[in-house]
Amino acid sequence: MNRRQQLPNTPSFYPPLHLQGHTLRNRIVFGAHTANMAKDGLPDAQFGAYLLERAKGGAAMIVAEPMPVHRTGVLTRGNFRHSSDDVIPHFRAITEPVRDAGAVILQQLYHIGAHGDSDLSFAPHWSPSGHPSYHDSDGSHAVTEAEIEELIATHIAAAIRCQKAGFQGVEVWAAYHSLLDQFWTPWSNTRTDQWGGSVENRTRLSRRIIQGIRKPVAMTSSLASLYLPLTAMTSPF
Ligand SMILES: Cc1cc2nc3c(=O)[nH]c(=O)nc-3n(C[C@H](O)[C@H](O)[C@H](O)COP(=O)(O)O)c2cc1C
Repeated sequence: MNRRQQLPNTPSFYPPLHLQGHTLRNRIVFGAHTANMAKDGLPDAQFGAYLLERAKGGAAMIVAEPMPVHRTGVLTRGNFRHSSDDVIPHFRAITEPVRDAGAVILQQLYHIGAHGDSDLSFAPHWSPSGHPSYHDSDGSHAVTEAEIEELIATHIAAAIRCQKAGFQGVEVWAAYHSLLDQFWTPWSNTRTDQWGGSVENRTRLSRRIIQGIRKPVAMTSSLASLYLPLTAMTSPF
């Protein structure tokens, strides 16, 4: 008796899934989590081995831990170096073996908005409306329209860097009241300009980022997904 006969009402994890030009060999995803293994901001052999073991173990898709997309988005001592091409060859040494082992590999991109840590970013927290984080009493800085454009540009630049490093797509983090979730949420986004108010305005930033990533990275078949609190949406670049 095979597994399906033993558990007839259980969805199978094993059929392959064709997704935007990639074939996931099963439905098992190793989700992004901050392992803090960066050494001087660079991924090294320990991090590579950590991901490779999961690929050898059979995971179909691996989402490498988040890369801050901007200097104000640095959250942990172990974060990878943001906004720097220095990371590219180091990540390439990690993505190639994972791909060779049969997994699809993405990188998560993040900005934590008002919930950042100025002790590590050495910058004020950037947020939609300048409200304090519920984690601390540091307060935050309400981003100007020029700073919003800077955030869009740095998300796109980070995605291009991922592609050069051999990642097959990116997951833009929008869960857990991240910067994007802060824009979506009416109590943290009280702006009255084109970035606040209606749902269309509150989702403008995430739409601009995803659309912006898809354009320059469209030359190869890749994945861009938006990681939401309860689900993940995938779509082509
Ligand atoms: C230490 C730790 C760090 C995490 N960091 C992230 C993160 O950076 N991004 C993210 O999307 N999820 C993060 N997560 C959430 C995990 O990806 C995952 O969704 C969560 O642990 C639930 O899955 P599990 O029940 O298999 O542990 C983290 C989880 C843990 C335990």
